[in-house]
Order: sequence, then structure tokens, then C-alpha cells
Amino acid sequence: MGGERGVLVSGNWKMHQDHAETAKFVQELAALLRVSGVPAGREVSIHPPFTSLPALQAAVEAERVPVAIGAQTCHFAEAGAYTGEVSAQMLARLGVAYVIAGHSERRAQCGETDEVVRSKVDAICRHEMRPVLCVGETAGERRHGAAVAKVRWQVAAALAGRAAGTVASAVIAYEPLWAIGAGQTATPGDAGEMCSAIRDEVGRLAGPGAAAAVRIQYGGSVTPATAAALLGADSVDGFLVGGASLDAGQFAAIVRAGA
Ligand code: PGA
Repeated sequence: MGGERGVLVSGNWKMHQDHAETAKFVQELAALLRVSGVPAGREVSIHPPFTSLPALQAAVEAERVPVAIGAQTCHFAEAGAYTGEVSAQMLARLGVAYVIAGHSERRAQCGETDEVVRSKVDAICRHEMRPVLCVGETAGERRHGAAVAKVRWQVAAALAGRAAGTVASAVIAYEPLWAIGAGQTATPGDAGEMCSAIRDEVGRLAGPGAAAAVRIQYGGSVTPATAAALLGADSVDGFLVGGASLDAGQFAAIVRAGA
């Protein structure tokens, strides 16, 4: 678990919560966290749809709640003829701190290849934000014993050749595809084994300092009931939470899990 690296609990709202719902959510979350507090060494980020970012920013400031602003993706180019896209620079100017790159839904639904994901990580780092790089295997890959090789490959594809300091400040989210939105989480043993393999891969790519510093989240049907045990697993430094992050009470409970 986190230790000196600290713990990062991130809410990935996907295509949920418009600007008005976002403001209401932050008020609820702030009220809950004012009572229970965010445990020392833990950080929280929320990744709403783009249109809710200004509302999130305003509500977080008004409520004085310790929540970092996150985004779910960005384009890799600085600007240009990319209808419907949002650049990393635009996000940085809004005060976004963390940007998800390579979520499996975007890899599958939007055709994001490892090369595209790498370019997005480039853009995020260029604008001094931190990537939350998503990696994970399918059920079939796990059944065939190919899970670790797949995940190591995805990590290397996005992070190889980067400065150790850049890798150290990145976040990697291990999200097995069979667990996302499925109501089924990886066991703490399986999550710990994969997160340790990811840390080992980071060491191979960027050295022991980066491996010791990089934060590795688990994602895939995390709930208040499963969070504490997962946080106790080797190398698990927090969570990327989908469904349960839409409920302020559940999200606050995950933020405090095991504390
Ligand atoms: P879930 O989503 O918690 O609803 O499984 C996690 C994610 O896709 O990031």
C-alpha cells in the first residue's frame, strides 16, 4: 500500500454528471469529508466530463475541499483541425492536474492504439499535468496466462524512453477489463501481483527511483466493501473508481477505506 508514495483515489465519472449535478455532488462530498476528513497521505481527484470541469473547479474552490481536478482524456496535438477534441493545453489552463490516458473504453470504442496513448501521455507531460495511464488485460488473456506480458507491454509502450522524473510523477491504473463495470473485482492477491509486476516494469524502464515513486492504482468495480483489502495489497497505491464514484457517500467511504 501507499506508504511514502501516498494514496490517490480518483473518480472517473465517464459520461455522467452535468455541470449542475457536479456542483451538487461536490457540496455533498465536502460535507462528508468535513466530518470524516481525508486521511493524511491521501489525495483525491475527480474526472468529470469536459463540460463539467469549470463547475467542478468552482465548487471545489467554494467548498474548500481537497480535490484535484482531473480529465478523462485529451487530444495529443496542441491545436488544429480536430473537430470535437480538447487539447492538453486547454485542460492545463483550466487547472487540471491529472489526465486519464488509454482508458480501456477509449482503446476499444475510439480505436486508441498504444501509439496514440503514448502521444497523449507526451501532451499531458508537456503541459506539466500527470497522466493516469490505464492498462489491463481481457478475461481471455488472463485465462491464457498472457495477462502480465500484455500489461508490461502497455506500460512500456507508453513510458519507455522518458526521463526518470517524468515516470516517477506519473500514475498507472491497473484495470482488468473483465472487472470494469462488472461488479467483480480482482482479488487483493491478483491485484497485488499485477501491480508489483507493473512496478518492476517501471524499474526496468526508468530505474529504481522511478519504480519506488510511481503510484499504481487498481480499478474495476471498486466499492467501499472491497477497497480496504485491495489497499492492503502489494504495490496498490489507490483506486480509479467508476460506478461507485458517482455516489458521494460511497466515494467518501472509498477515500477513507482502511484508515
Ligand atoms: P468501475 O469503472 O469502477 O465502474 O468498474 C472503473 C473504470 O472504468 O475506471
